[in-house]
Amino acid sequence: MSAWAKHQVFEKNSLILLVGILLVVAIGGLVEIVPLFYLKSTIEKVEGVRPYTPLEMAGRNIYVREGCYNCHSQMVRPLRDEVERYGHYSLAAESMYDRPFQWGSKRTGPDLARVGGKYSDEWQRAHLVNPRSVVPGSIMPGYPFLAERELDVKHIAQDLKVQALLGVPYSDEMIAKVETDIVAQATVDDPGAAELVKRYPKAIARDFDGNPARVTEMDALIAYLQMLGTLVDFKTYDRKANVR
Ligand code: HEC
Repeated sequence: MSAWAKHQVFEKNSLILLVGILLVVAIGGLVEIVPLFYLKSTIEKVEGVRPYTPLEMAGRNIYVREGCYNCHSQMVRPLRDEVERYGHYSLAAESMYDRPFQWGSKRTGPDLARVGGKYSDEWQRAHLVNPRSVVPGSIMPGYPFLAERELDVKHIAQDLKVQALLGVPYSDEMIAKVETDIVAQATVDDPGAAELVKRYPKAIARDFDGNPARVTEMDALIAYLQMLGTLVDFKTYDRKANVR
């Protein structure tokens, strides 16, 4: 029987074809899944990655609530054009505390995984209020109401508790200090800022929305945007030390 004639057995009998497909798919699945059981962890810990501060977490919630992920991804892929445009490709560890993750699947706007520090707070504020004021021709919608709305700090401790339940290392102290940490991070020269940075290294404390009298949703969202992709120091990051 020629090879072609043997293959005809599969092509002419759908039941045999089905069994054949199942067999091939099962082998492919095993090859992908079994090695994972032999790894200690699928995410390598990387120096600098920490859980979100309560203010950043609140900003992240607003990001999700407003559906920013419908137009923005947060994952720089390891392809040359992406790395040249956005910076170092995203590491798995950088989104290890993202529940749910915000990798996204659509880029109507640019990737935001490394947008932290790219613009000033003033630029972010003007852009969120009316994107056309800084980027003529932008099709991004404006979110001017964020600057008017007081941040609802009451529920953020609850959020941290849920995240802790999911495995994010929020301590009891972090959860107890949510409200003071939020005020400390959104205010210039707040005495609580030193403690905040002890709990959350590299946390930036300042008045993000240009309105020192209030903590608004704009404060939270800009605090979040300004820290995206800034936790790992790629000048000292050693890729080889993190590859087995
Ligand atoms: C309808 C799609 C759409 C939505 C929804 C959207 N954006 Fe955008 N965004 C864009 C586009 C397009 C650009 C590029 C033009 C510009 O800078 O305005 C952009 C640019 C940006 C930039 C500048 C990025 C850079 O590297 O220059 C930031 C920051 C940003 N968006 C944040 C947000 C946030 C935060 C939200 C949710 C509150 C949001 N966007 C919602 C489409 C969108």
